[in-house]
Amino acid sequence: MNWLITGGCGFIGRALIQALLDDNRSNGAGHAIRVYDNLSVGTKADLAGTADFTEGTDWSATLTLVEGDILDADAMREATQGADAVIHLAANTGVAPSVEAPRMDCNVNIIGTLNALEAARANGTERFVFASSGAPLGVQIPPLHEEMAPRPASPYGASKLAGEGYCSAYFHCFGVQTVALRFGNVYGEGSTHKASVVAKFIKAALDGETLEIYGDGSQTRDFIHISDLVRAIRAAAVEKGVGGECFQIATAAETTVGALTDVLVETMVEAGLPKPSVFNGETRTGDVARNFSDTSKAKRKLNWQAEVALPDGLRRTVRFFQDTYMPDRAS
Ligand SMILES: NC(=O)c1ccc[n+]([C@@H]2O[C@H](COP(=O)([O-])OP(=O)(O)OC[C@H]3O[C@@H](n4cnc5c(N)ncnc54)[C@H](O)[C@@H]3O)[C@@H](O)[C@H]2O)c1
Repeated sequence: MNWLITGGCGFIGRALIQALLDDNRSNGAGHAIRVYDNLSVGTKADLAGTADFTEGTDWSATLTLVEGDILDADAMREATQGADAVIHLAANTGVAPSVEAPRMDCNVNIIGTLNALEAARANGTERFVFASSGAPLGVQIPPLHEEMAPRPASPYGASKLAGEGYCSAYFHCFGVQTVALRFGNVYGEGSTHKASVVAKFIKAALDGETLEIYGDGSQTRDFIHISDLVRAIRAAAVEKGVGGECFQIATAAETTVGALTDVLVETMVEAGLPKPSVFNGETRTGDVARNFSDTSKAKRKLNWQAEVALPDGLRRTVRFFQDTYMPDRAS
């Protein structure tokens, strides 16, 4: 199978590539992967850390990189030639930058997604997997599920919702089998550059800094380990009969940030790190109080559910950060 992965040099893209290459090695699956990335966040060195790659568009090579922007419609169309599936991960990935620069977020996440869909349509690509998030749903009473009316509370939520809308339209008008996945809070190995709570807290602890919980820590989130997320993307890329649909992809477990911090601190101490101090700071404007997902639709139609328990996933993540972020302090 030929995979075109936009944003493939990033956290989720590299984990997906790693899983596909593992599959090639263990059972000769024959995946060919082409990454399309403008290298604004992920780098060539990051990609090379996953596997050797060549630059260009040769599907007979296992892993190739095309340096390009999703805002360049012609380059996107060219890069998509011969792909069986497009996994569209490239995006403005954060709420905060979208609040700072809504027009930039709109361009990258809406026009960029439209370009990726157009490229798939022009090349007759069968399957298109879109990385969405809980943000299109906005402020809701959880569990979040696919039947809720979206009420985005940030430009990022609005632009991801527009991406979901175009995915639906491209299925109904043009037959592109689009699948939008609303990821929960993804954590795990390979996330050293991320600013999400798990990555931020481990880096702070390794730097000898205090961990700041926004508010009293009673806000809840649904933390999904990267390996579970990668299995969901792969299921969405191949499962039959799911075109034009949207899925909540998380663990269905509601965890307070306070409880997450307790487990994480315990994990770091077990791994031989000095116990970091923790304090409760100001509540952040716009933070939702509760967030977790009902993932029963993904179980039913993608035959997928999360498997990695939080303490296990955190152990793996802490070990990775020890080895890569500050190797001299690895235990
Ligand atoms: N990580 C999470 O917790 C999370 C949660 C919900 C949704 N998502 C979504 O998943 C996707 C991947 O997230 P990630 O955590 O791997 O992010 P990341 O920042 O690690 O990777 C994104 C990659 O996209 C590339 N990129 C950015 N803008 C581009 C552009 N205009 N053209 C081409 N390439 C571009 C970057 O260089 C980077 O390599 C994003 O769409 C994000 O919104 C992530």
